[in-house]
Amino acid sequence: MATPTDLAGLGFQPDPTIAEPIYLQLATALSDAIRVGRIVIGARLPSERRYAQALGVSRTTVTAAYQELRALGLLRGYVGRGAIVIANDPDRAPAEAIPWSQLASRFARRASPTSAGGHSGLISFGDGWLHPSLTPRAALAAGAARIVQDSDALTKAAPLRGLPALHDALIDTLRMNGVKTSPGEILITGGAQQGLNVIARAFISPGDAVVCENPTWHGAVRAFRAAGAEVVGVAMDHEGVDPDALEESLARLRPKFIYLIPSFQCPTGRLMGLQRRRRILEICARYRTPIVESHVYGDLAFGEKVPSLKSLDSTGLVIHQGSASKNVSAALRLGWLVAPRLAMDLLATAKASLDLSTPALTQAVLAGFLKSGAYARHQPKVREALRARRDALIAALAGHCPDLRYASPQGGLYLWAQLPKLISGHEVEAAAAAEGVSVRGGNSFLTDDATSSHIRLCYAAPALDEILAGAQRLGKALRTALKRHRGSVALGSAFASV
Ligand SMILES: Cc1ncc(COP(=O)(O)O)c(C=O)c1O
Repeated sequence: MATPTDLAGLGFQPDPTIAEPIYLQLATALSDAIRVGRIVIGARLPSERRYAQALGVSRTTVTAAYQELRALGLLRGYVGRGAIVIANDPDRAPAEAIPWSQLASRFARRASPTSAGGHSGLISFGDGWLHPSLTPRAALAAGAARIVQDSDALTKAAPLRGLPALHDALIDTLRMNGVKTSPGEILITGGAQQGLNVIARAFISPGDAVVCENPTWHGAVRAFRAAGAEVVGVAMDHEGVDPDALEESLARLRPKFIYLIPSFQCPTGRLMGLQRRRRILEICARYRTPIVESHVYGDLAFGEKVPSLKSLDSTGLVIHQGSASKNVSAALRLGWLVAPRLAMDLLATAKASLDLSTPALTQAVLAGFLKSGAYARHQPKVREALRARRDALIAALAGHCPDLRYASPQGGLYLWAQLPKLISGHEVEAAAAAEGVSVRGGNSFLTDDATSSHIRLCYAAPALDEILAGAQRLGKALRTALKRHRGSVALGSAFASV
């Protein structure tokens, strides 16, 4: 390896009298020297320890200066092993001065990024949120205005398990849904998504199996896999997870727990009936396997509600999960877990390692919203609005996408549509984006690498008057994908006959 460049001739003198920190002074001197060619590309800089001694500064100063140069793309190397000059112009430095992709964890290498939020100009059936017009903005604004007058709310962190006022409000709300609980059994989380990570951290060790529906919410799969779980999907029918297949997987894999979304499942929108729920509880009780029940869509039934697994559970098998994202506002980033006390102690320990507690301000806003009766008044309106959107979407699909096959969802946000033969969800997602409408290809929800022939359409995300235009655009995208296929099938057979 080349001997380190002698930087004595650089004449750098730290100037403690100016406001700029010494590491930045050094970084500037070095980058100037690199820019003008006094330090050439390929030169090895002295080790941080030796250079620090020579300059009479601390080693961390030199480390921080080198880090600046690395961030500019001028240096490559690792702390303690010297560093090589790899470019002389930050604007033309190689894009990946740090080999970030090689540093990625096993989880990060496997997961693809999730888009957060909408794409401007697109009509969105892709995002799983309520359109802003479905959010109770006035009631939330009034509550938030009151809360910011309260000095405690503005200055004190919430307790680890959540704000007592929110516990009380949730206990009342849950009781109306047949779930009897107490403050010692509730944990407030940063959205349901954090709840899934809390569960993963509390219960999963690398190599443990977790069983879920296939397809399912990919955020859950990612959270469990990040903790090292082997996630295994079980086939579904029109009512959700197939009980026989589930039992077979419990016997074979002995999973740590199963994860189910019995009401208005993401992505299929399916609703598990009462008999099926009882059967699943009976099977899990026999195998002594806990159930993580996601109830994040459970309050959005257009007809009569089916009782949650938690409300039917007499043996303490179920960890129940709720969220404010899907029926109040995603901006609150609030979710909750309801679990037997012993499980809750583990969950609280895991939560403490993630963020100590959930923001007190949004908790106070939601507590006020629930307690004031605004939630009870708002829910029927959201359900009605969602039902109207579902009807508008189905009417528009009948007119513009006659090749799609689907069941009419009885609640929640999603319609799961089967595509004509040979077309994949992935292709339609891309073709739809090109037409100015976003949909979610089914692949992202699969627990394996199979190809999905479905798309998920969220009728809650667009404005009501965008639904027809969205379906028209989708129809055009489907025709394009079909034509491409017919072309390649024709081409394929032409080749075959040669
Ligand atoms: C089943 C399920 N759980 C959790 C989430 C994330 O919810 P939150 O916004 O509360 O983190 C989603 C989002 O689509 C979901 O479908």
